Amino acid sequence: MDLADLRTDYAAGTDAVRETDDPMELFGTWLEQAAAAGVREPNAMALGTIDPDGGPAVRMVLLRQIREGDLVFYTNLESPKALALRRDPRCALTFWWAELERQVRITGRAAVLPRDDAAAYFATRPRGHQIGAWASPQSRPMAERRELETRIAEAEARFEDQDVPLPPNWGGFAVTAITMEFWQGRPSRLHDRILFEREGSRWLGVRLAP
Ligand SMILES: Cc1cc2nc3c(=O)[nH]c(=O)nc-3n(C[C@H](O)[C@H](O)[C@H](O)COP(=O)(O)O)c2cc1C
Repeated sequence: MDLADLRTDYAAGTDAVRETDDPMELFGTWLEQAAAAGVREPNAMALGTIDPDGGPAVRMVLLRQIREGDLVFYTNLESPKALALRRDPRCALTFWWAELERQVRITGRAAVLPRDDAAAYFATRPRGHQIGAWASPQSRPMAERRELETRIAEAEARFEDQDVPLPPNWGGFAVTAITMEFWQGRPSRLHDRILFEREGSRWLGVRLAP
């Protein structure tokens, strides 16, 4: 499925909901095209979560893998975002690829990745990132920057001459999409918007007004 198909499929001027292919295929194509177009950090996405008090929170994270159709990112498992997702797995992801005038909005549910999977990914990371994951109590207040430097020095000393293992408080989340909306900018603000919604094992698509 590519945008040309979408245009054809949805060009008839109807807003009828219809069954479609898995939109993750289209997402994969758009992600590749964003990288090819020179978008900086095409895998950067805004992650929206629901705070324990019911309020909204949003921050950027990096899409690191697409695993069995789920979108995977990695983080500190004691960070506010991780605590929020463990309490309420509903979340939203948004990508914006300016060079292509494309946005993808996703809503879904996040689940913590099995520890073995996180360990396998962690092992591929540069050593400096691994040490940082041990050293940084993400989002906790710090008295001064030197505190972080001290913690890094401690972690470096602890794992000198050995591989850095997966920290107990570091891991991944896999987001299973429930809705995916593809937005393509077009002249005169007559943008294309196609919304896909998962219904059981099927995906239904509908064109939305821009
Ligand atoms: C482009 C970009 C990518 C980021 N990627 C990640 C990431 O993959 N994982 C992560 O934990 N934080 C990432 N961050 C930092 C987060 O935005 C955030 O500051 C941090 O995770 C703490 O968020 P929290 O307090 O809501 O848990 C990224 C920031 C930017 C600007």
